[in-house]
Amino acid sequence: MFTTSLTLLSYLVLSATSPALGAASNPLAVQSDNAYEGSFGDVKVPVVLGVMSRCPDAILCETVFDRVLEKVADKIDLSLTFIGTLNASEPDFGVTCKHGPEECAGNVHELCAIKHVPTQRWWSFVQCLNFQGRNEIGKPEKALQCAKTTELDWENSGVGACAGLDGSGKAEEGVRLLQQSVTVAQETGIEKSCTVIINGKQVCIHDETWKECEGGHAPKDFIRQIEEEYNKLNRS
Ligand SMILES: *[C@@H]1O[C@H](CO)[C@@H](O)[C@H](O)[C@H]1NC(C)=O
Repeated sequence: MFTTSLTLLSYLVLSATSPALGAASNPLAVQSDNAYEGSFGDVKVPVVLGVMSRCPDAILCETVFDRVLEKVADKIDLSLTFIGTLNASEPDFGVTCKHGPEECAGNVHELCAIKHVPTQRWWSFVQCLNFQGRNEIGKPEKALQCAKTTELDWENSGVGACAGLDGSGKAEEGVRLLQQSVTVAQETGIEKSCTVIINGKQVCIHDETWKECEGGHAPKDFIRQIEEEYNKLNRS
């Protein structure tokens, strides 16, 4: 366990590898001074989807966000945080995933891609996995196949070493990323897959139906909310 809790945003910015930073009392209330400064000098809006790789609600959210990304890819810093339960009795992952160990492996495939390749590449990889059907997610051959389809270089990008060159999802780095991600989800109060968080604020949940989506849940609604946050973060 961590002795200090990670803030959600520190986790995003530091790609889950760095030691814990001081936690805000409400980690979801991340303020703009923490936001990620992109290569063009603008500040990207952190967007987090709280998901589980085999969850239908997550797949639905990721489909909606495919439309969002088309419009605002250059304004956001997108990441996935995975929901699960730390469990020392789980032999392979140390985490219980709601849809079984295969889901844990799927989570690892996605986390390793997020860690090691640029957004457009890992996003295409995740979309490819989703397109296989949710009961295929986490299978080694599907991960390798989607890597090939989306031109993600499994061997040389670092993703393979992270998730297991054979695609098992059980390599050390990937398992550590999964445990960290699950811990961050717990500490930031992300309980439902899918939870949409824009600039530290929970704006929407899809749990069989859309819930708590004050600002709407169509792609255009997320786009609008992202643009509002982007303008706030970059006002000078
Ligand atoms: C922890 O893992 C063990 C082994 O898979 C399992 O039997 C048990 O139900 C899990 N506990 C929780 C709380 O998920």
